[in-house]
Amino acid sequence: KKLIIINGPNLNLLGKREPDVYGDMSFEDYFSKLQMTFKEVQLAYFQSNIEGELIDKLQEVGFSYDGIILNAAAYTHTSVGLGDAVKAISTPVVEVHISNTFKREDFRHISHISAGAKGVILGFGLASYDLAIHSFLK
Ligand code: DQA
Repeated sequence: KKLIIINGPNLNLLGKREPDVYGDMSFEDYFSKLQMTFKEVQLAYFQSNIEGELIDKLQEVGFSYDGIILNAAAYTHTSVGLGDAVKAISTPVVEVHISNTFKREDFRHISHISAGAKGVILGFGLASYDLAIHSFLK
């Protein structure tokens, strides 16, 4: 299976950024662990702080990969364009969040991604990504 994790803005700072909310492990370290755990999966990773680059990546992989694991971070709550991109492609998208966004500020309760997603996994820390990968392996 060919899967890609796409991370949005500020997730390049995982490990340094608000560790009480997002933990103290960098995504690079976590990604190496995932690659070791899921040896049978061809797992790619892309991160950008730029909305249009995230849309370009969704369009690039969205007709050939078996699955996309998308944490659009703050753009989840603001980007109609990313939501439309998720609906436009044929590869299924699982929306992921590290934190339980429903326990947080009201503006985080809205997602432009969910309506086009196959499913949503949130609140399990970095393990949310593990669970999302599992969801593609049946
Ligand atoms: C996040 C939640 C978002 O509200 C926030 O803007 C992020 C990360 C999460 O993974 O918990 O940057 O997507």
